[in-house]
Amino acid sequence: MEARVPYPYEFKEISDEEKAEVARLFRYPHIESIRVGPKGYLMQKRFRDHAEDFYNLPIRPDDLFVVSYQRSGTTLTQELTWLLMNNLDYTTALNVPISHRYPFLEIFMYYEDFRKEQQKNSYDVETKEKLQKTLEVMSLPVVEKLAAMPSPRFIKTHMPLSLLTPTLVDTAKTVYIARDPRAVAVSSYHHAKLFKVLDFAGEFKEFWHLFRKDRYMITPFFEHLKEAWEKRHHPNMLFLFYEEFAKDLPATIRRVAAFVGKELNDEQMARLCDHMSVENFKKNKSVNYEDLREFGFFLPNETFIRKGKSDDWRNYFDEELSLDAQRWIDDNLKDTDLRFPTV
Ligand code: A3P
Repeated sequence: MEARVPYPYEFKEISDEEKAEVARLFRYPHIESIRVGPKGYLMQKRFRDHAEDFYNLPIRPDDLFVVSYQRSGTTLTQELTWLLMNNLDYTTALNVPISHRYPFLEIFMYYEDFRKEQQKNSYDVETKEKLQKTLEVMSLPVVEKLAAMPSPRFIKTHMPLSLLTPTLVDTAKTVYIARDPRAVAVSSYHHAKLFKVLDFAGEFKEFWHLFRKDRYMITPFFEHLKEAWEKRHHPNMLFLFYEEFAKDLPATIRRVAAFVGKELNDEQMARLCDHMSVENFKKNKSVNYEDLREFGFFLPNETFIRKGKSDDWRNYFDEELSLDAQRWIDDNLKDTDLRFPTV
């Protein structure tokens, strides 16, 4: 067994002013955050107790990781890679929730909040059984969860690469998916209004300012992307943009297939493109997370799979916000050749 590496980063409390802002904008009272490391990633306070485990995760060479800043197209990348690696087994894909096939690495840090929500509700027998299974998947801390998974393991994470084990990309295939931050912000705003354990109470403008001031979870956004962008030429790394899927779905599927060493004939491609459409994702209970609504974890009026468009963000940005966003993006792209595909 390899020696455990001591955790290299420091933790910093957030300011009272930031705490007050969170308390004002989120109706859910339990969010407590902390900043980690030189980039100051904003993480759940509970992360502190597990940080060293994440930094020392035992990775297997046949693991497949999908890494992203949230709301960047993670679910569609998970579904695509899972199907490619599992002989296009649509029967299992349509019957086993993606959260079980492709667990979310750090979800256990939110388990207590979901459990508290669950205790407020009553369920019929069938829902209770399903909920039990979901909570089981959710509750296991990271090391136990990964150890219990048979190979090949499929793992989703929203953690930046620097907070995971430094051996990850050298050891296992990693797909990073990025998206225009304006679209990520709009999608995250709706996501924050979907989950009872967030219950965002503000307007989009307020959300935007939280996000671009690095005051929303796992920000700074650009640092998250740049860490992966720097590794994009590594043979184990595939760097994708959400916008590529909208521009040319078959070509993007082919790129992902080549990365995982698979080929598709025309018929297989046609079926996969159909399966991957956002309309079908909305109806597909294995990927749309509607079971969480059954369990009482969602608020009405929002859905996990939403519009699935690359340019919907334009409807949320007035002139002033557009200018602010453009300046912020330009500023952050100054020292890198990372560019978002135009839509
Ligand atoms: P919108 O909120 O802009 O619609 P993640 O899976 O990382 O949480 O990303 C969620 C975003 O991807 C949401 O964006 C969601 O609608 C979109 N999405 C999910 N499945 C999709 C698909 N099959 N095609 C296009 N977009 C999809």
